[in-house]
Amino acid sequence: MQQSLKSKQVVLGVSGGIAAYKAVELLRLLVKEGAEVTVVMTENAKQFVTPLTFEALSGRPVYHEIFGNEASGSMEHIRAAEKADLMIVAPATANSIGKMTHGLADDPLSTLFSAFAGPVLVAPAMNDQMWANPAVQENIRILKKRGIGVIEPEAGELACGAVGLGRLAEPERLLTEIRKNLLRQTDFSGKRILVTAGPTREPLDPVRFITNRSSGKMGYAIARQARSRGAEVTLISGPTHLEPPFGVTLLNCQRTGEMAEQVLHHLPQCDVLIMTAAVGDFAPETVSKEKIKKSGEQSLVLNLHPTQDILQAVADKKTHQLIVGFAAESENVVQSATEKLRRKQLDMIVANDISAPGIGFQSDNNQVTLIDRHQKAESLPLLSKMEIADILLDRILAQLNDR
Ligand code: CTP
Repeated sequence: MQQSLKSKQVVLGVSGGIAAYKAVELLRLLVKEGAEVTVVMTENAKQFVTPLTFEALSGRPVYHEIFGNEASGSMEHIRAAEKADLMIVAPATANSIGKMTHGLADDPLSTLFSAFAGPVLVAPAMNDQMWANPAVQENIRILKKRGIGVIEPEAGELACGAVGLGRLAEPERLLTEIRKNLLRQTDFSGKRILVTAGPTREPLDPVRFITNRSSGKMGYAIARQARSRGAEVTLISGPTHLEPPFGVTLLNCQRTGEMAEQVLHHLPQCDVLIMTAAVGDFAPETVSKEKIKKSGEQSLVLNLHPTQDILQAVADKKTHQLIVGFAAESENVVQSATEKLRRKQLDMIVANDISAPGIGFQSDNNQVTLIDRHQKAESLPLLSKMEIADILLDRILAQLNDR
């Protein structure tokens, strides 16, 4: 049998819920696939499954006491676990999720999580009322925003007898998510990705400018995920308040003209261009050197000229590059985006409906439709921008491999 996870180092964190028995099955599947698994448990988890069960199946010491002895995992062993390829917490109780969100470290699981720098998956399991609790949902949102993968619980009969959303995902599904995550860790290595993000800013005078409401979150999420999947990433960004993602080359710009220059300069060295930037379509014809004064009640008339369309310029210059555009639409979303895909000669366009509340600009979530060059549309559900970034990168990779 093919062992797809051969020699992969995985940390399995188990917290105290009835679903801890499914972690035993997950461990069995991981070991069968060739993974080397270190199990870490909370005190409460031991009420459901003994450390010995996990130790026997993993063939390794189980870390279950912070101030323990050899039996709870040696320091050397714990240090090695911190460098594993992936950590999965299954089941993750509301309490463990709260600790992970707020940086608490008072048990073996939360301690190891705090020291773990690699990718983490969290599989919540709890009663449906707890899952619906606004504090838990807020914590989940924060974890997702930090790039932690959340494997949503399933609906069904719960341990408390109620029927609702909160059951731990089945071990096979957890395994699929682990495989996908491990595969994604290197699938972009050797690829050079150019991403634009944020708004542009066109000055009127030394203190005023024309801009738009783009936060840059989508572009930064793509840059971050592409980098974490092994790509060499250059991010050309208009003004935002965001932290630059680790390991990404950041180039700042303000005006459309500057962004166009930087994009065209870096285009020949990249394999993929993703234009998430909300590029301003108009700029003042003249920029006043001095602050414009008001003169009584007289209106001020601004003459605006259209800016350069960066993607149109890219269409004339591109050679082997795969080009992805974004389309913010408020009506006939798919139809208008498809029209832009054709006009700008794109390989893919990501359409989003900016009239829908709670998504799009500024938000951490979005609901988009991906349209490829054969005009095949794929509507995604409401997802975090990090999740959208990963799905978009999956589709881009499929197109690159298809060439
Ligand atoms: N774009 C660009 N240069 C511009 C304007 C937009 O390269 N001057 C890019 C955006 O980065 C985006 C795509 O084109 O990837 C679509 O942007 P959008 O603002 O939706 O479309 P426009 O072409 O500006 O058309 P309109 O505003 O009329 O809908």
